[in-house]
Amino acid sequence: MTRVLEPGQFDALARRDFGRAPQAFRHTLHQRSMFDDAALADVLDRYPRDRLGVFTMGGDPVDWRSWRRGRAGNLSGEALLTSVREGRIWLNLRATNDYLEEFDALSGEMFGALEAEIPGLKTFRRDVGLLISSPGAQVFYHLDVPRVTLWHIRGRKRVWLYPARAPYVTAEALERIVLKETAEQFDYRPDFDGGAAVFDLEPGDVLHWPQYAPHRIVNGDSVNVSLSCEFLSPAALVSANAVYADALARRRLGLTPKRRGAWHPASLVKFAVARSAKAMGLEPSPPEPLPPSFAVDLSAPGAVGPLAG
Ligand SMILES: [Fe+2]
Repeated sequence: MTRVLEPGQFDALARRDFGRAPQAFRHTLHQRSMFDDAALADVLDRYPRDRLGVFTMGGDPVDWRSWRRGRAGNLSGEALLTSVREGRIWLNLRATNDYLEEFDALSGEMFGALEAEIPGLKTFRRDVGLLISSPGAQVFYHLDVPRVTLWHIRGRKRVWLYPARAPYVTAEALERIVLKETAEQFDYRPDFDGGAAVFDLEPGDVLHWPQYAPHRIVNGDSVNVSLSCEFLSPAALVSANAVYADALARRRLGLTPKRRGAWHPASLVKFAVARSAKAMGLEPSPPEPLPPSFAVDLSAPGAVGPLAG
């Protein structure tokens, strides 16, 4: 078994900045045959079809409302790969490590390698998402509540990473996302790009960024394959719960909360408040998932066809 991360990349500075600043490292997963076309078609055949995320989108990075969910029906993995190659499709296989043995083993290798490099790093709620997407496809400006490492495997893509603070994301916007009142996508202005760190990813690049940092992605002119690996660390969990408590304080008590570092005493109190609020059943229900509005259809433009009756 080859090493997952190229050796010698994590000096004292890289370790200190891990999760505190945008960082790029090199990995070796793109050399494995588990990501070639035949293996991916097989993965698409074995992954639970009702969990498969299928999306399409317009070309304007501001117009996140053009993000649409589709249905893959009973198309074979091979046909889905052809649709990705020739159409405008974004496939998202979340939590492959929960459903497929080889991805569970891979998850252990990847997170194990990170924990071995970063002293004190503890990862849990690990979610290895496999992304297979069309040439020119994009993911709109959004943020993720967990921490994310993006392992790029095939093709080329450009990633913009924005600071996790106003105006890129306001405290209110973050609270709405943590409360699940809105989807993770939110308003983006092109002038934000002036404050972004921009990475052109090639196979073998892995990116990590601070929790809640907004980002967007545009594929180059080739099929893209990446692993979006989400996790929580103890600090990330405390922080997300503190934001949750802030959201309750703002809504129920009319307060203007101040966000602090995860280990600030105020954050630990908020963590306790959020945990007990959730235990009492005050947790809001997640927003309705986007209803499907198209069927993957190779004979249609972009492989985006009408839903059958
Ligand atoms: Fe993301």
